[in-house]
Amino acid sequence: MLLTSLLFSLLLSLSASATQVPFSVGAPSTSPLTFQLRHLHATTNTSQILFSDVQPGSLSDGLQGDPETYTINTQLIKTHRPSSFASYERAREKAFRWDRHIKDDGIEELSWPEDIVMAPNVTDRETLLLLAKMTNNAYAHEDNGREWYDLGKQWNTSFPFGWEQDGDGFRGHIFATPDNSTVVISIKGTSAGLLGGGGPTTKKDKLNDNLLFSCCCARVSFTWSTVCGCYAGGSKCDQNCVEASLVDDSLFYPIGTNLYNNVSYMYPDSNIWVIGHSLGGALASLIGVTFGSPVVAFEAPGERMAAGRLHLPSPPSTHHVTHVYHTADPIAMGTCNGALSSCAIAGYAMESRCHLGQSIIYDTVTQWGWAVDIRLHPIRIIVEKLLAQDWPIPPGSPPDNTTILSKVPEPKPEDDCVECFAWEYGDFLDPGNW
Ligand SMILES: *[C@@H]1O[C@H](CO)[C@@H](O)[C@H](O)[C@H]1NC(C)=O
Ligand SMILES: *[C@@H]1O[C@H](CO)[C@@H](O)[C@H](O)[C@H]1NC(C)=O
Ligand SMILES: *[C@@H]1O[C@H](CO)[C@@H](O)[C@H](O)[C@H]1NC(C)=O
Ligand SMILES: *[C@@H]1O[C@H](CO)[C@@H](O)[C@H](O)[C@H]1NC(C)=O
Ligand SMILES: *[C@@H]1O[C@H](CO)[C@@H](O)[C@H](O)[C@H]1NC(C)=O
Ligand SMILES: *[C@@H]1O[C@H](CO)[C@@H](O)[C@H](O)[C@H]1NC(C)=O
Repeated sequence: MLLTSLLFSLLLSLSASATQVPFSVGAPSTSPLTFQLRHLHATTNTSQILFSDVQPGSLSDGLQGDPETYTINTQLIKTHRPSSFASYERAREKAFRWDRHIKDDGIEELSWPEDIVMAPNVTDRETLLLLAKMTNNAYAHEDNGREWYDLGKQWNTSFPFGWEQDGDGFRGHIFATPDNSTVVISIKGTSAGLLGGGGPTTKKDKLNDNLLFSCCCARVSFTWSTVCGCYAGGSKCDQNCVEASLVDDSLFYPIGTNLYNNVSYMYPDSNIWVIGHSLGGALASLIGVTFGSPVVAFEAPGERMAAGRLHLPSPPSTHHVTHVYHTADPIAMGTCNGALSSCAIAGYAMESRCHLGQSIIYDTVTQWGWAVDIRLHPIRIIVEKLLAQDWPIPPGSPPDNTTILSKVPEPKPEDDCVECFAWEYGDFLDPGNW
């Protein structure tokens, strides 16, 4: 009797402190979480982040299912968080100085305390499907055919200008569990320019993308005017120059850290996950590496090189970041880069191919005979075609087949990935000529 009540009170105190105190590894405390859409976020043409609250019942569904709640399977994972964002930024500064042979003024080494957090169960297909829907516009508005809904009236009070004119920045949703214990930041990227849309920030985004995801300032061929002056002839590229161009111009990463800081300010005690599609996925990963948050990124271009160029301090492990993509998507595969490719024609050089963390790669080219095509990149393809059925069952098989071997390809780190192998990086140029 005494033992039972002791155990009972122990269990109670364990569950009460579960959100602050790390779980012991393997503790069976995973349970599905139910999320509701709380806010929409967007960036303006001046990279300011806007939030708009969602009133329950105000949105109608574009896809199947309950439009406002998402139940997600969880698992416990190990993650590494820097002790503070300030110490992380100091470590980044130190790395920049080190590379430029500037004497560092005794900045302390960054420590990466380990933490066990509840994360989405990425080996569960239904979980991936729901997360993919959460990165997508799952809601239809009057203008049903568009890739993104019109936020329209909801923005009217706090913000004088309309969404539409500024409609090309990062944008997405913020979901929270009813008790606010877990919050999901979902980021939809800026693929509009690439896929034929456009907007006032397209030019700047393109500059950023070409700096982050191309080998050398988007010098695809001799006909290209490069976005920075780091090309040193032949196949040579000046490394410090490429990095300096990014520091000067890249909004991509600061948008992400501002967004995260804003959300963690709104939800100070919550476990935060970050998910995203395309460039939003790359941004989600860089945020997750910075803050130690669980990440699921869909069809992101290779962001490992970008993390290096931005001098992000690297945690002991990035396995809390999971990429999901398929082999027929030239953006995620880093193959959208020939001078005649659809990316190049739109003025993008998406040449990077290596991803951080671990990757769940659906080989749709070999298994399903898909032909590589940029039109297989949108999140709707992921939701409606890729994750709509178990893998590796070929399309057309009976959906109730119970002999399925694997529901999701096994997550693996991209250990053997080589970036920009045709390029040689080094100190080739006089900084005066950058
Ligand atoms: C941003 O958009 C607003 C209105 O849409 C416009 O007045 C302003 O000039 C734009 N700013 C920049 C930097 O493009
Ligand atoms: C994650 O999902 C897979 C597939 O549904 C399941 O086999 C596994 O037990 C789940 N893991 C946890 C920790 O619930
Ligand atoms: C903003 O839109 C809402 C809903 O349409 C409306 O009730 C409200 O009066 C509007 N506010 C302003 C300042 O226009
Ligand atoms: C959750 O956070 C929201 C702020 O977005 C707050 O209004 C609400 O009261 C919080 N709910 C709980 C149960 O703490
Ligand atoms: C978001 O963060 C930025 C900078 O970190 C700050 O200037 C801004 O006021 C914050 N916005 C909100 C809505 O919290
Ligand atoms: C179920 O899938 C397995 C593996 O693909 C296949 O061998 C089997 O014939 C399928 N069963 C049915 C009833 O379709």
